[in-house]
Amino acid sequence: MARLKLGILISGRGSNMRALVDACSKGLVDADIRLVLSNEGSAEGLVHARSSGVATSTVSHRDFTNRAAFDAALHRALERAGVDFVCLAGFMRLLTPGFIDKWHDRMINIHPSLLPAFPGLHTHRRALAAGVKLSGCTVHYVRAETDTGPIIAQAAVPVLPDDEEADLAARVLIAEHRLYPLALRLIAEGRVRIEGERTVVRAPHPAAAPLLNPPD
Ligand code: GRF
Repeated sequence: MARLKLGILISGRGSNMRALVDACSKGLVDADIRLVLSNEGSAEGLVHARSSGVATSTVSHRDFTNRAAFDAALHRALERAGVDFVCLAGFMRLLTPGFIDKWHDRMINIHPSLLPAFPGLHTHRRALAAGVKLSGCTVHYVRAETDTGPIIAQAAVPVLPDDEEADLAARVLIAEHRLYPLALRLIAEGRVRIEGERTVVRAPHPAAAPLLNPPD
């Protein structure tokens, strides 16, 4: 399998982008990060990417009158950088179906819930309101409908009795930083096959014991 040439799209903090950059620079994931692209010039993540020696660029959505024109500019920036695979990492703009089509099966996203539960915004608040006892995160291929697409990998964490939104977000984020590099590594190693709208992943099986919360 050819080495992935990655573009990572961010809008803010960029901690998942950092996890991907670190995994690539340590050789844990064999991929070449060509560009970190943000729609916000002030995104904190850009500073870290630059200090790690990764090329960065900003395409501001405010410079375009419509989403299709903004997405076309994103696409051009990715192509100019030689990107052939895109990771969305806290990219807070909705992408047009045209853009998503161009990157069909070549674009993945991380979402802070166990999809298909709680797609969209305010996931942790909604998970707490629903009273779920396990939450987590999901890495999936991107399809036109928000937070849908073949699931590559998931991580589960317990929801604890006194959790506030920030506590659950922090616990899930730790899981995100392990899961995203893992999912990318599986793809880079050619271990993920898409069949219909599901994936078949060649990887060691986890322990089959259930994760109970509360434990018995
Ligand atoms: C993460 O929780 C990610 O799952 C969601 O947006 C957040 C981005 O955080 N899509 P960061 O910018 O990667 O720190």
